[in-house]
Amino acid sequence: MKEKARLEIERLRREIERHNFMYYVENSPEISDREFDGLMQRLIDLEAAHPEFRSQDSPTMKVGGAPVEGFARIRHETPMLSIEFVRTAEKLREFDGRARKKLGRAPSGWVVEPKIDGVAVSLRYERGVLVRGGTRGDGNEGDDITANLSAVRDIPLRLDPLGRAGQAPEVLEVRGEAYMTWAAFENLNLKLREAGEQAFANPRNSTAGTLKLLDSRTVAARKLSFAAHGTGSPVGERFGTYTEIREYFRNAGIPAASPAERCKDMEEVISLIGRREEERRNLPFPSDGIVIKADDLDERESIGFAPKYPRWAIAFKFDAEAAMSSILSVDFQVGQSGQVTPVANMESVELGGTVVSRASLHNFEMTDRKDIRRGDRVIVEKAGEIIPYVVRSIIELRSGDAEPLRPPDACTVCGGPLTPDEARIAVSCGNAGCPGRIKAQLRLYASRGAMDIEGLGDRLIDLLVDGGLARSPADLYALGAADFESLERMGPKSAAALVSAIEASKGRGLARLLFALGIQHVGAEAARKIAARFGSLAAVMSAGLSELEDAEAVGPVLAASVHDFFRDGGNRALVDRLASAGVAMGNEAPAAESEPGPLHGKTVVVTGRIEGHTRESIEDLLRGMGASVAGSVSGKTSFVLAGEDAGSKAEKARGMGIPVIGYEEFLTSWNPQKGQKP
Ligand code: IVH
Repeated sequence: MKEKARLEIERLRREIERHNFMYYVENSPEISDREFDGLMQRLIDLEAAHPEFRSQDSPTMKVGGAPVEGFARIRHETPMLSIEFVRTAEKLREFDGRARKKLGRAPSGWVVEPKIDGVAVSLRYERGVLVRGGTRGDGNEGDDITANLSAVRDIPLRLDPLGRAGQAPEVLEVRGEAYMTWAAFENLNLKLREAGEQAFANPRNSTAGTLKLLDSRTVAARKLSFAAHGTGSPVGERFGTYTEIREYFRNAGIPAASPAERCKDMEEVISLIGRREEERRNLPFPSDGIVIKADDLDERESIGFAPKYPRWAIAFKFDAEAAMSSILSVDFQVGQSGQVTPVANMESVELGGTVVSRASLHNFEMTDRKDIRRGDRVIVEKAGEIIPYVVRSIIELRSGDAEPLRPPDACTVCGGPLTPDEARIAVSCGNAGCPGRIKAQLRLYASRGAMDIEGLGDRLIDLLVDGGLARSPADLYALGAADFESLERMGPKSAAALVSAIEASKGRGLARLLFALGIQHVGAEAARKIAARFGSLAAVMSAGLSELEDAEAVGPVLAASVHDFFRDGGNRALVDRLASAGVAMGNEAPAAESEPGPLHGKTVVVTGRIEGHTRESIEDLLRGMGASVAGSVSGKTSFVLAGEDAGSKAEKARGMGIPVIGYEEFLTSWNPQKGQKP
């Protein structure tokens, strides 16, 4: 009887281990979850009836054991190091250069893995059995969380259940990341909220919080994952490369960080970055970059270590930060051109240091292609200074029966018909008198980069348009203090201030006026170029297509757009009215009278945050020094001024051999006070 039970226990353990392997490593389960649970329950019952056969490495340990009082400490024989991180290709080349120098030649290859945003842990296997698992702690000493890690489903308690990997090493320390998928994180937060408890801010916090629990049964229920990314015990006798180690991990049933790719040199790694950044969005877990490590273990040893980091590995971090939220409702925003943009109102979430509650859904083609619906849990991202946008839905978490997003049948502001554009990506309201369009037009006109009318914000614009006081930017110039005083929450003082702000906007000059008109494709920069080339609005309006195309950096699309704009009777009437109101239609006092600035003839691209400056103020400074400022890097770029968190523009420039300089360096070499290069 006893022997029979022992044999069945043995058989069940092997069977369950094999199914675990098929599920977590091979991704091809052979039995249903129910059947699996049945096997596990049978094993639990047998072990309960025969406690003498209990064992540390039984798969039943995965359901968690009795709570502990606290954690013992463990020392890491080999310290768990941190990693250096960079954000630019140039820094990767420098890292590669240092490795080459140490090695006396180029490393033979690099392995690229996702940087998983979780918690680093170390697992110690002795003769193939998990004996201890610990947190990184300070790198030398961490907490012994063996019971909790044993409860992580994809951490094998015994290596190599299928007998594929050969004899287990005497000692193997597997280092890796405990993490939560977006889906596990969400499910946990749902349960916590239901129970009236505090939800976690992100999957890394929820992983760290879970690993600190004293009750491993709760850990088991929370569905952590694990991915190995290295070893902590000497393995040089058995393996020559990290690729071989990964191969062993796979055969032994240890999930390894993936997707992984091997590159022959750093240039190949760099060429991969763009694609990896895209793919990252579709990974089931949060990842903010990639880790690049030398493949050959002997080479690693020769390249060596800095005090806190290995010199043979580096992390490349992506710019955008991601967070998870849900779409509460969708607004349709009507733009100046009439284009309707879906905008998601979201559950507030912290993203890159600010609280975000609205995000663009771009257009209906995107929401269709990515199947984004109301009520969906979504990943939101913010890159640089651009407003946040919804990257994708987590469709596995969709519970309701929300319909796909459809464009509204009619304009949500004026009720007029909507027409799709040629590419069928967007729909637009064709009613030039649509209050939604007029408001958008006034918002642009009054904005800082355009006519800069201080005090004329969204609320006031709504009141003016809804109250019938303004239907066009030209109407602003006919308004007196009494008109403003008639509006809600407007005193005589602010009314007078507004009148003078509107008056002041008359002298902003051609470039800002061209931008303020909202001509399709004409951003602030293009407007400046056109203004510089033509000098007056009359000259722009009478210019032929080819003349427009000839203007520096005004491509055919832009030229056609400008040309069409001024062929429209309504637009011409607007210009006439602005002119008769006294709005300046030419360039400001020509800069040519003074000395040409030190950056005369230079084209500069700015990227990243420049300390003490807004984007506008740094551009103004550059222009004041005679530079022309461009939005993107091209063959014409003289140099890139890169601030904090500079991204792809700096990389592109470096790739093209264009100098990239920091603000400090800029100030010392192009001192704007002295106005000359020392
Ligand atoms: S390799 C000794 N690979 O990043 C440094 N680390 O390691 C070699 N991390 O907090 C580490 N994903 O937990 C490596 N695919 C990956 C990783 C990864 C995440 C974490 C790791 C640690 C930090 C530095």
